Amino acid sequence: MKSVKIILLTLFAGLIFAQTSSSQSDVSKYKFGELTALANKYGTDKGSMGHLYTEVYEYFFYPVKYDATKICEIGIGEGASLKMFRDYFPKSTVYGIDILDKSKLNSDRIKTYIADQANRSQLKSFIDANGCDFDIILDDGGHSMEQQQVSFGYLFKCVKPGGYYIIEDVHTSLDEPVEKEKWTTLSMINNFVKTGKIESKYIIKEEADYLSENIRYCNLLVNRIIEDSITCICKKKYNMSEKELVNTLPRINDSIPQQPAEKKAKPMPASEKKIDASQ
Ligand SMILES: C[S@@+](CC[C@H](N)C(=O)[O-])C[C@H]1O[C@@H](n2cnc3c(N)ncnc32)[C@H](O)[C@@H]1O
Repeated sequence: MKSVKIILLTLFAGLIFAQTSSSQSDVSKYKFGELTALANKYGTDKGSMGHLYTEVYEYFFYPVKYDATKICEIGIGEGASLKMFRDYFPKSTVYGIDILDKSKLNSDRIKTYIADQANRSQLKSFIDANGCDFDIILDDGGHSMEQQQVSFGYLFKCVKPGGYYIIEDVHTSLDEPVEKEKWTTLSMINNFVKTGKIESKYIIKEEADYLSENIRYCNLLVNRIIEDSITCICKKKYNMSEKELVNTLPRINDSIPQQPAEKKAKPMPASEKKIDASQ
């Protein structure tokens, strides 16, 4: 049982640390809280003034903090979260997609783009102009079922292996009428967790097949402290087998305490041997 626990711990550590390539992202040196502090500084509701998503996101993001080069967010608002990501990921360009013109936010590391997230040809124009190789894509746009699922279906292929696709505010699914419950984003993810298949009336078959084959896992995270906020974090599979993946983690494996080899029991001195009274 103990060895099973250690294997599970190793695999979990492997999932968390698989992208770690920089010594700067060593957990022993990393101080958590920066992402939430930046969220609060710029005023996005992802921080502790709102949904508190950043407290969880940072555990997923910090291994690639110094390596990520392209982050994309759907839904710009006033640009608060784009600025938060720009400051958190020092080497990344942050791309924002919005149905409205947000070009006043453009700078050397923030690029905005006008597109409707429910329109595949507009998403294609964005990808054609900016590439299909994002470390993280996050959807904080219109939050309707169609918008969330069309974007997920179309853009997931543009997440790098091992990267993340995040759908925020999945709790909007809970406002849908009962007769439409089957096609909510929450039902789609719950169904994927149970069956390993993505099914959606908004996602075309090739996209659904790609998603089913390439999602490593999806986590639904519910914040019950402030309000019932739900965010969904889906990780893309790596381009390698589980065995190769574990082999990329020598530093982590080394740091897991090894169980000491069992000592052979010493023969008991004759003087300590119990005397059997029946003899
Ligand atoms: C909640 S705000 C984003 C806030 C921002 N992410 C932050 O945390 O600071 C939602 C944004 O989504 C945009 N939006 C709404 N419907 C959209 C659609 N169909 N496609 C793209 N963006 C959309 C809105 O214009 C608005 O700017």
